[in-house]
Amino acid sequence: MFLSPPKIFTLSFITLSFLLLLPPTASQSLPNSTSTPTPSTPCFCTTYPQIAPAISACPSLTLHNIHAPAHSVIALTSLLPGTDITFSGTTTFGYTPDSQFRPIEISGSGVSVRGAAGSVIDGGGEMYWDGEGSNGGLAKPGQFMKVQITNHSTMSDLYIRNYPSHGINLAGVKDSTIQNIILNNSLGDAPNNRSNGLSAAHNSDGFNIGNSANLVLRDSKVWNQDDCVVISDSSNVTVSGMFCSGSHGLSIAGGGSGTGHDTSNIAFKDSVVTNSTNGLRIKTDFNATGSVTNVTFDGITLEDIKTYGIDIQQDYLNGGRRARRRMGFWLRALGLGILVAGLWRGRWIIMYFVEMGAVVTLSLRGLV
Ligand SMILES: *[C@@H]1O[C@H](CO)[C@@H](O)[C@H](O)[C@H]1NC(C)=O
Ligand SMILES: *[C@@H]1O[C@H](CO)[C@@H](O)[C@H](O)[C@H]1NC(C)=O
Ligand SMILES: *[C@@H]1O[C@H](CO)[C@@H](O)[C@H](O)[C@H]1NC(C)=O
Ligand SMILES: *[C@@H]1O[C@H](CO)[C@@H](O)[C@H](O)[C@H]1NC(C)=O
Ligand SMILES: *[C@@H]1O[C@H](CO)[C@@H](O)[C@H](O)[C@H]1NC(C)=O
Ligand SMILES: *[C@@H]1O[C@H](CO)[C@@H](O)[C@H](O)[C@H]1NC(C)=O
Ligand SMILES: *[C@@H]1O[C@H](CO)[C@@H](O)[C@H](O)[C@H]1NC(C)=O
Ligand SMILES: *[C@@H]1O[C@H](CO)[C@@H](O)[C@H](O)[C@H]1NC(C)=O
Repeated sequence: MFLSPPKIFTLSFITLSFLLLLPPTASQSLPNSTSTPTPSTPCFCTTYPQIAPAISACPSLTLHNIHAPAHSVIALTSLLPGTDITFSGTTTFGYTPDSQFRPIEISGSGVSVRGAAGSVIDGGGEMYWDGEGSNGGLAKPGQFMKVQITNHSTMSDLYIRNYPSHGINLAGVKDSTIQNIILNNSLGDAPNNRSNGLSAAHNSDGFNIGNSANLVLRDSKVWNQDDCVVISDSSNVTVSGMFCSGSHGLSIAGGGSGTGHDTSNIAFKDSVVTNSTNGLRIKTDFNATGSVTNVTFDGITLEDIKTYGIDIQQDYLNGGRRARRRMGFWLRALGLGILVAGLWRGRWIIMYFVEMGAVVTLSLRGLV
């Protein structure tokens, strides 16, 4: 069974208008972690055990230089609606070799989560990196942050470095904005003595967006070694002003088993993908159900792309089947589907459809 119903992939480069009404965030008044709270207030946490009481009591709290012990989640869940949370100083974590462990979890309605100037959240990735990421090897936390914020929430100004495997999992985010986030896993570019010559932090996604709707992700930078942004099972998502380096680019990962694998109305705009394996990707799983409709890439700069500039394939298997490289432009009937491939600025553009009924409109205008 292949994907059903028929897919329409529209890759166009028109300017779209959006009806998403999201609150302004830049001018919001936020706690001043260096002057307003003092270490004696219960809302200014400097140790891990202070966090749980603070989140049930404080409309605004600061987490300053927190060290989370091993197997201890920074659980910012069950937040009071409208809670403001500020990370300040350097946040660190004890060694927790558990793929189900999520070092930070955040959920709430109308909440604001931000990093104070100069703050750093350090995932301690060096303790885990082995060139395998979530594909195997040493046990390591699978997703660094699980975020389920809703109802005009914002998350902004976080500087996160050295996360063990994947970065931020926006899982069930609704009507919210994520902006000015830096994910810096550059330290994991070089191989280490466990990675068999691969980047030590191989298979580290930046933003994984799933089951989300009416989400804006913007003005963020990712230095990593796998997908920069990858979207599944979501609708009405706008991703703009991104800078992606070292990655597998801006992606849709469609399909799955069972129901609920529809992805629609996704706009990637005004972003740069550089020094990366792939630029833009739409991959749907081999032998999966679901749909991908109305995906727009508009004003994307691709530079120094090592394998595929644009890769669209409906037969994705992790590390498995993929369209073969060919010379020049060609288009041909291939059993039940079509394959289109070509060279663009010396890099391959691959669109591989294994199902009749896929309608493709592709324009390269706007790519520079
Ligand atoms: C925040 O703290 C900084 C540094 O102490 C200070 O300069 C600034 O005036 C404070 N801002 C507010 C709104 O209190
Ligand atoms: C969203 O937040 C507003 C207050 O800011 C509240 O009145 C409303 O009930 C919330 N909606 C949902 C669905 O939680
Ligand atoms: C990213 O991390 C690397 C290695 O830790 C560091 O050298 C680099 O300056 C960082 N880049 C940014 C933009 O913070
Ligand atoms: C790998 O390098 C780490 C850090 O430099 C070191 O602690 C460890 O003993 C080394 N392991 C092997 C097998 O060489
Ligand atoms: C997506 O946006 C469209 C158009 O604004 C709206 O009709 C639809 O309900 C939205 N989808 C979700 C899941 O909110
Ligand atoms: C490009 O990415 C590789 C790893 O894929 C990294 O080693 C190199 O430093 C990066 N170059 C630049 C200019 O960022
Ligand atoms: C396609 O998605 C865009 C948002 O990315 C939306 O504005 C537009 O209305 C959608 N088109 C259709 C036909 O749903
Ligand atoms: C396709 O999926 C079905 C249902 O999940 C499964 O029974 C079948 O073995 C799969 N076929 C292949 C070739 O993977």
